[in-house]
Amino acid sequence: MKYKKNILITGGAGFIGSHVVHLFVNKYPEYQIINLDKLTYAGNLTNLKDIEKKNNYIFIKADICDFDNILSIFKSHKVSDVIHLAAESHVDRSIKDPFTFAQTNVIGTLSLLQAAKECWKEDYSSHLFYHVSTDEVYGALEFDDTLFTEKTSYDPHSPYSASKAASDHFVRAFQDTYGLQTVISNCSNNYGPYQFPEKLIPLFINNIRHGKSLPVYGKGENVRDWLYVEDHARAIDLVFHEGKTRETYNIGGFNEWRNIDLIKVMIKVADKILGNSEGASERLITYVTDRAGHDLRYAIDANKIKNELGWEPSLQFEEGIEKTIRWYLENQEWMDEVTSGEYQMYYDNMYSDR
Ligand code: NAD
Ligand code: TYD
Repeated sequence: MKYKKNILITGGAGFIGSHVVHLFVNKYPEYQIINLDKLTYAGNLTNLKDIEKKNNYIFIKADICDFDNILSIFKSHKVSDVIHLAAESHVDRSIKDPFTFAQTNVIGTLSLLQAAKECWKEDYSSHLFYHVSTDEVYGALEFDDTLFTEKTSYDPHSPYSASKAASDHFVRAFQDTYGLQTVISNCSNNYGPYQFPEKLIPLFINNIRHGKSLPVYGKGENVRDWLYVEDHARAIDLVFHEGKTRETYNIGGFNEWRNIDLIKVMIKVADKILGNSEGASERLITYVTDRAGHDLRYAIDANKIKNELGWEPSLQFEEGIEKTIRWYLENQEWMDEVTSGEYQMYYDNMYSDR
């Protein structure tokens, strides 16, 4: 069958990527979706079980940094467009191991850009390179009412955000230098099913379930803007189809929470579901040494995508967080699978000071 587009989605076995792959495979039978993922500790094909037999879906295990292989995949699969999500994504890991972040996030992105440049040079206008990025490239806000807009200057602080900022710059450089058609979106913190339990929300749900301590960094006063992952996937769909090239779109939940307040909400909901007395798990809260360079506050002004493309978050936070907590508690097998073996060793090593 000849497909209208052959879209390479990188990082499709990860958290956000698996939601994007689901959405595109199910919504667009006229597109071939090529999910390319290295399957690092964060990639898990279980996330895609229900679509793996679909005709318009292909999985390729590959490393985005391996340029020769990426180029040959572009050619053999006649890749027409890219939605690039593959990355090392956890700030704490980037503090311990910045080289891997530079390698995957910068060199990996460059390798994809270079392959796209070579394969699409006859007619750049009929191809799109969509780079999925983070609001962390903008640095940190104070505790006031300022928000990150698309015009906020880049000021990354962690090795993770520095590597994402560098990759954003490479994407724009390929547009300006060679004429590749690109678009970037910068999103706030996502939550929902299939997130690896090293990030705040799934880690804490799992720890509440097992009565383990909840390590709150510093005083728990840092603020994040949370968005349900399926709302992010819908925004990616819109930006891919209707976004203007060379533009940036900020995506956020209009939903700021101080970490400690969010944690107390999670405890309340989880205790109710688990049949514990209300707030019982608050005793698990343990204040630990703050993260180095911990960004105070992130908050997105998502009015551009709202006004220009008509996107808004669809799920209220109260509903989203309950749905998420139920999912993790009901999918303990998934949790056990991803936290076993290699991950457990890495985790124990990383947090041996706790
Ligand atoms: P994730 O860590 O859950 O998944 C990353 C995926 O990339 C994994 O499947 C992993 O196997 C794959 N991968 C890693 N290195 C690779 C390589 N060298 N080659 C091929 N595949 C590789 O990440 P996520 O949270 O789903 O984030 C996806 C993207 O969205 C990232 O680019 C991230 O920067 C961005 N983002 C994430 C958030 C968030 O809150 N999680 C917010 C904004 C933007
Ligand atoms: P995280 O989920 O790692 O996302 P990010 O650092 O990209 O925002 O962390 C969200 C917030 O929760 C952040 O302010 C750090 C804090 N945090 C903790 O207090 N304890 C933890 O164990 C983790 C993982 C995060």
